[in-house]
Amino acid sequence: MKPFKLTDNVEYMCVNHFNRRFFDALIPLPQGTSYNSYLVRGAEKTAVIDAADPEKMGVLLDYLKEEKKIDYIIAQHAEQDHSGGITALLRKYPDAMVVTNPKCKELLMTHLHVPAEKFIEVKDGEELDLGGGRKLKFIYTPWVHWPETMCTWLESDGVLFTCDLFGSHLATANPFSDPEDVYEPMKRYYAEIMMPFRQQVKADLEKIAGLPAGFICPSHGPVHKGQMPGKVREYYTDWAVSAPRNKVVLAYISMHGSTLVLVNRLYSRLQELGVHVEKLNLEDADTGRLAMSLVDAATIVVGTPMVLAGAHPKAIYAAYLVNALRPKAKWIGVLGSFGWGGKLVESLAAALGPFKAEVLPPVLVKGLPLEDDLKKVDALAEEIAKKHALPA
Ligand code: FEO
Repeated sequence: MKPFKLTDNVEYMCVNHFNRRFFDALIPLPQGTSYNSYLVRGAEKTAVIDAADPEKMGVLLDYLKEEKKIDYIIAQHAEQDHSGGITALLRKYPDAMVVTNPKCKELLMTHLHVPAEKFIEVKDGEELDLGGGRKLKFIYTPWVHWPETMCTWLESDGVLFTCDLFGSHLATANPFSDPEDVYEPMKRYYAEIMMPFRQQVKADLEKIAGLPAGFICPSHGPVHKGQMPGKVREYYTDWAVSAPRNKVVLAYISMHGSTLVLVNRLYSRLQELGVHVEKLNLEDADTGRLAMSLVDAATIVVGTPMVLAGAHPKAIYAAYLVNALRPKAKWIGVLGSFGWGGKLVESLAAALGPFKAEVLPPVLVKGLPLEDDLKKVDALAEEIAKKHALPA
């Protein structure tokens, strides 16, 4: 494999992992993923930015087979999908130094046992001169995705390396992103990885806003070039900063159809009232799809039957995810059917934990809903539509 030339001084080494199905043994990867590394050549020094997941390091080493000397390994993020291959790089290039910030150094020492003497620590805004006018400037961008994450700016070539930020779990042979192909994988990635840190994402976006990047080079998925550097910043601003949309995520599960009657009634009433609804059956829902739906919803409604003394476990898991992912929804509702009693709402509230949203009056029905019950669902739909019509 040969690296793909992005500019005179920057080469892209895309390590695709087409058949990986889960990330962190948790997040579904319907389109696989990739781990991107970049070679940056100065007149005197050569740097590799980020490594690859250890499972695929053979591919990265193959890209580097003609490369006799690497001076610096830039570690933008300590998570092992980018850092795990650093030990293999150090075996091949024992004189190379790992360049990173103090927090990342500490994590690499504890997670990979890289010895302290192999590091060069860099401060926020510090530059590393590779010679010939090529300087790597390090920009701390915490919490995209871990506290130590940083971006790297190569002003001479207009290239911004962003690691997880602006990435997508997308294995592809196409080096450059296409708006039609990458929007959904990027949104999914943002939802799963970045959404819990929305406030910090906003601050990080502001920090890199003025950089005139012709290329944005994430360490997952294709490179953003042409119009895309502007577009990906717009997408992120929309997801992280803009007010939620006139949209309800209706996440439900039904065992014998009674809850489904309530769900279907709410779905059709909301649509009649002009509210966009994304309905997800939790029985077989892809958690990434649920996360993506949550990005811009103003209201979340969970539909669940009572199981034993609480909500259905899959509904509880959905509530747990809402709390973990911290979407910008302002209102939350519950629909449910029960046989003889229990603590349906309380069990969901416990899973939601400190998630802050106004709780709408729940609609709980004994057995199969009657017309009076459906009128309560209609009232809930009207309440939601009214709230969505309020100014943001
Ligand atoms: Fe792609 Fe947070 O690692």
